[in-house]
Amino acid sequence: LNAGDGTGEHPTQALLDVFTIREEIGTVNGLVITMGKLMASVFYEVSTRTNCSFSAAMQRLGGSVVSMDTVSSSVKKGESFEDSMIMMSTYADVIVLRHPQPGAAKKAASICAKPVLNAGDGTGEHPTQALLDVFTIREEIGTVNGLVITMVGDLKHGRTVHSLAKLLTLYNVQLRYVSPAGLSMPQSVIDFVKSCQVSQSVYGSLEEALPGTDVLYVTRIQKERFESELEYKKCCGKFVVTPQLMTKAKQKMIVMHPLPRLDEILTDFDTDPRAAYFRQAENGVYIRMAVLSLTLGKTSSHVGQL
Ligand code: CP
Repeated sequence: LNAGDGTGEHPTQALLDVFTIREEIGTVNGLVITMGKLMASVFYEVSTRTNCSFSAAMQRLGGSVVSMDTVSSSVKKGESFEDSMIMMSTYADVIVLRHPQPGAAKKAASICAKPVLNAGDGTGEHPTQALLDVFTIREEIGTVNGLVITMVGDLKHGRTVHSLAKLLTLYNVQLRYVSPAGLSMPQSVIDFVKSCQVSQSVYGSLEEALPGTDVLYVTRIQKERFESELEYKKCCGKFVVTPQLMTKAKQKMIVMHPLPRLDEILTDFDTDPRAAYFRQAENGVYIRMAVLSLTLGKTSSHVGQL
């Protein structure tokens, strides 16, 4: 049995590779395998999950990754966003961009000759997170239709809840919002959800919103978006998921969080089967494999944003 002959062949590796694709995706036919393709990972804001899962996804598909960030690149020397995007588009087949400015991915897509995927644009959107969130709900509960989904935390600055609320308008759901004063869901998102005739209501406390909730989607208070530490501190610690609080919730429900978390879900709750947030984060790799595969099959078009 040939276990690899120099620069020649490695047939058993090929067998296990095809087996892995069938196990992970269910088929091999019709797939775009990104062998030889290059993804530029461009992060103007910090990230663990989005950055690493996009890179893992690209490499699991057989592609490669080149990275740029604001610490080690010529952004430090004052290079403009536009010039940086032009450069990345000459190197890579697809650009994954995180940026603090809402609309930055759309702007990059108008500059670059390559597809741009929005990996989070400030307080704007996080579309691939919304995709992995809906995928997680389907995996965990088996359906999205008919569910009561409660979003809690910093709904003003949280791009994940903006994109998720919009994506959920494709389903028959009831949305509940719980947030500290001044951090409510932006009117633009409320208006969009309303225009899709999806039910949405605002609750003053988690205790009120929790009964009947099928998905509790918890978000962090985003310190980096506040003008002062004092303003941030006023909003902290209002809504905290504890094992005791969760005795008031359904037994068959899930708790999600895009992560990172600070103190809004106590680690004591992590062993509860309803704690789905780490399974949710793992799903990011599979969803981003699918997004990259679809995108690299259509290299002449830019990828739209939610
Ligand atoms: N969910 C998410 O966007 O996490 P990161 O900021 O770590 O990428």
